[in-house]
Amino acid sequence: MNQTSQLETEFQQPTSGTPLAIETERLTKVYGSGNTEVVAMQAASMQVRRGEVVALLGPSGSGKSTFLTAVGLINPPTSGRVSIGGQLVLDGPASRTNLRTFRRQHIGFVFQKSNLIPFLTAGENVRIAMELNGESVRESTARTMELLEYLGVADRAENLPSMLSGGQQQRVAVARALANRPSVILADEPTAALDSQRGRQVMELFARVAHETQAAVIVVTHDHRSLDVFDTHYEMEDGRLRLTKSSPQFANVS
Ligand SMILES: Nc1ncnc2c1ncn2[C@@H]1O[C@H](COP(=O)(O)OP(=O)(O)O)[C@@H](O)[C@H]1O
Ligand SMILES: [Mg+2]
Repeated sequence: MNQTSQLETEFQQPTSGTPLAIETERLTKVYGSGNTEVVAMQAASMQVRRGEVVALLGPSGSGKSTFLTAVGLINPPTSGRVSIGGQLVLDGPASRTNLRTFRRQHIGFVFQKSNLIPFLTAGENVRIAMELNGESVRESTARTMELLEYLGVADRAENLPSMLSGGQQQRVAVARALANRPSVILADEPTAALDSQRGRQVMELFARVAHETQAAVIVVTHDHRSLDVFDTHYEMEDGRLRLTKSSPQFANVS
């Protein structure tokens, strides 16, 4: 078997047993080359189970976004592997086929700023994610209202993002991330633009979503005041990942 078809076969195979929701194995990322080379991430390994909510801490420039965008299949690593739901998805720069479809179906992303489309209403911003995924208008309209209610912003469905507070915009962005029932939710400093009380509410929301939908959640945050909300803490320093708090419920059995 040549290398390509071996890789393809491997990408199709789920591992046995209860699969981890997310597994990264020794992710490394090198930006640039020669004397502009930056090693942004080095051998970063993490395991996240279904329903687990993970805080990723670390100073600015330590590689947190590089890690999160690798897990989110947006920015592939230079080397190392990413498996989602027991399926090998990335092996260094190589990926399974239909990566974009896989990402849309399995991963929800929330950014620092809500990134809502400014000329669509809050409801339309959520619905479009489902329609892109082939959902009928009827089903996506119903689920949009359900999600906005779940997140406490149903009364804002008809408003444009500019009419919403920062906290409300982030709630709509979370609703949009949940639209396609992802098994993995990734958030990069989602509360950076919020005051501490609203920031905490958004963090509590991520924990609730993880526990209620059994999604695996990783949140990059600087806010040490909300850390009690998380099951597990990791810290990134100079591209190296370290487990700093584990929850007995999710601790590795090995
Ligand atoms: N596209 C890029 N090209 C070159 N260097 C980059 C790029 N993106 C990030 N970096 C560098 O990689 C390191 C880690 O960045 P990043 O992952 O954004 O850290 P964090 O999210 O923790 O602030 C930094 O030194 C940053 O300057
Ligand atoms: Mg960052």
